[in-house]
Amino acid sequence: MKRVAVLISGGGSNMLALLRSMEGAHPARPVLVASNDPAAAGLKRAAELGVPVAAVDHRPFRGDRAAFEAALLEPILAAEPDILCLAGFMRVLTPAFVARFEGRMLNIHPSLLPKYQGLHTHQRALEAGDAEAGCTVHEVTAALDDGPILGQARVPILPGDKAETLAARVLTREHALYPAVLRRFAAGDRTPLLLD
Ligand code: GAR
Repeated sequence: MKRVAVLISGGGSNMLALLRSMEGAHPARPVLVASNDPAAAGLKRAAELGVPVAAVDHRPFRGDRAAFEAALLEPILAAEPDILCLAGFMRVLTPAFVARFEGRMLNIHPSLLPKYQGLHTHQRALEAGDAEAGCTVHEVTAALDDGPILGQARVPILPGDKAETLAARVLTREHALYPAVLRRFAAGDRTPLLLD
C-alpha cells in the first residue's frame, strides 16, 4: 500500500478527487494534505474526510525558498509518503526539494504539455486559436512543467469560450485524469494514459 501526500494551494478540487478515489480498493491511501496557504479551502475539506492536514504559510519566509521548503518538509517527512501529488500547488519547488522525491512526485497541469508550460494556459490556448485544450499529469523534475508525461485528457475549445469556461471544462477532465493516473502509478505502471 503506497502512502500519498497531496500538496495544494487553493480549493483543492483535484485533491478531493484524489482522496475520494482512494476510498475503495486502491493501491494507495492518503496520509497528508499540506498547503502553503493556511486559508486554503481544501484543507478544511480534507480534514472533513479524516485526512491529516498541515499548513506552512510561505509568506513569512519572504522569498527564501529553501527555508520555506525546510519547514514544509517537516510534516511531509513525518507522514512518510511514498508518492507526492501536487494538485494546484502554486509554488515553484527548488531542484533540491524535487531531487528528494525524484520519480515519485506527480503534478497536474491545465494544458496539453509540452504546450503552455507555466501560467494562463487557457488564455494562451484561446489566443493561439487552438481547436482543443486539456490537461496533463506528469512526473515532476527540476524543470517547470517538463517531466515525463503520465497521462493526458483532451477537451474541445468551443465557439465563444472564455478562459473561465474553458478552465471549467478542463477541470472536470482533471478530476478524471489525475485519479486514473495515480491509481496506475501507485501500482507501478508509468505508461502514458490518454483519455478522450
Ligand atoms: C487546476 O486547474 C490545476 O491544473 C491548476 O490549478 C488548478 C487547481 O484547482 N494547476 C496549475 O496551474 C499548476 N501550475 P484545484 O485547487 O481545484 O485542484
